[in-house]
Amino acid sequence: MARRPFVIVKGTVWFCNECGGEAAKWSGQCPHCKAWNTLVEEKVAHRGSGGGRTKSRGTSLRVGEGGGAVALTEAMKDESVRLTTGMGEIDRVLGGGLVEGSVVLIGGEPGAGKSTLVTQLSTQLASHGTVLYVSGEESTAQIASRARRLGVSDDAPVRLLASGEVSAVEQAVRMHSPRVVVIDSVQTLRVDELESAAGSVTQLREVTARLVTMAKQEKRAVLLIGHVTKDGMIAGPKVLEHLVDVVLSFDGDRSGGPRVVRALKNRFGATGELAVLEMTRDGLREVPDPSALFLAERPKDVPGSVVLASADGARPLLLEVQALVTPTAMPSPRRVATGIDPTRLSILCAVLAQRAPLPLREHDVFVAMAGGASVDEPAADLGIACSIASSVVEVALPADLVVFGEVGLAGEIRAVPRATIRLEEAVKLGFKRALVPRANVERGEVPPGVKAVGVGHVREIAAWIERKAEGR
Ligand code: TYD
Ligand code: MG
Repeated sequence: MARRPFVIVKGTVWFCNECGGEAAKWSGQCPHCKAWNTLVEEKVAHRGSGGGRTKSRGTSLRVGEGGGAVALTEAMKDESVRLTTGMGEIDRVLGGGLVEGSVVLIGGEPGAGKSTLVTQLSTQLASHGTVLYVSGEESTAQIASRARRLGVSDDAPVRLLASGEVSAVEQAVRMHSPRVVVIDSVQTLRVDELESAAGSVTQLREVTARLVTMAKQEKRAVLLIGHVTKDGMIAGPKVLEHLVDVVLSFDGDRSGGPRVVRALKNRFGATGELAVLEMTRDGLREVPDPSALFLAERPKDVPGSVVLASADGARPLLLEVQALVTPTAMPSPRRVATGIDPTRLSILCAVLAQRAPLPLREHDVFVAMAGGASVDEPAADLGIACSIASSVVEVALPADLVVFGEVGLAGEIRAVPRATIRLEEAVKLGFKRALVPRANVERGEVPPGVKAVGVGHVREIAAWIERKAEGR
């Protein structure tokens, strides 16, 4: 690939960690995206033309004969090739396999198992052609020893490169012409023409743009690993997420709970799709029935424990939510959430206090998703509300009950999408009863095998729970 020569113009520029915007001087607030305390200083060597901007280089749009535009019908004939990764769950999250010429960013905390995952994927992807595994963090001996543990076969065509230079990667690509390139991690790679350190905003932008160009022009699939910061953002600016085709988050901790791979952005499939994996001594194992895993240690007959049916992507997932409501010693009671959005919990508490009404104004409310799970969809509202109500009235809900529904500010319970697949998953796991939005019942979305009660307002919940306690 011919590269334009660099004209080195040294200077200091301030970059926003959030949006990647540039500023000539420091200020507390980013002039572009208005985020606070996100500007970082960087020495840059500007390219003569274009001033080091990556935008124009990150895409490869096809131009028709004589510079005209390509006919859509013509372009539609180029169907993208998908490579199976050997892990059915990961293929599903990707939208049916890894698309040739696509760039996938996998973000996760240290120790989550990203290197393990890409090593396993590499060996499977090698059945389609050569895989180049680039590590800026580990030596080839370290990668090889992990591969040995993971039972990689001797003849898998995987090439290892321990380097932090993009030019070395490009050279290796020219030499071995791999079908898939794995970069572990994007933060350890640098472009030598730029002065700033690896992992800085300028480097990340340039490194990613060069890899994207390579992927698009030469039709190679690129898997990029990205470290995330404590608050769950992929370290580096948002531009990184804009440049790539697919962003996967890899959640899970070192304590050994389930790992969840979720598509946050996908140009070739649905977002919200998730796969559950388990870390074992021989690497990551797919969990085909994650609901059972999340419900394994569920206590029976305990007030505050409720099973909710979430379905962020196409896959339904049954999760246990627990609430504990206790009298407060504070002037303003506490709302503490684990695995759910704290703002959502505050709103639900306010709605329940005002509309149910439940005596929550003098009580602390603690809500946690069990088993390290997390939910981020409105359909979880009713399950959370029921667990709070159950804890307030000190009545355990039936063990075979599943709950879902969105709660509005007026206390109304709204219909949710994919009600049938949520209920079908519940039936499969032996649940016999369901508490769901009335509108979903009226639309005829209840499959056989489950008795669903439709509710329309939060004030019906506490009454329903008390009736259950009396055995009615
Ligand atoms: P790793 O993939 O290196 O995490 P990351 O690249 O996200 O930082 O590995 C995570 C942890 O998993 C590590 O502490 C060791 C453990 N592990 C296993 O339990 N089994 C295995 O087969 C492997 C390879 C690692
Ligand atoms: Mg690693």
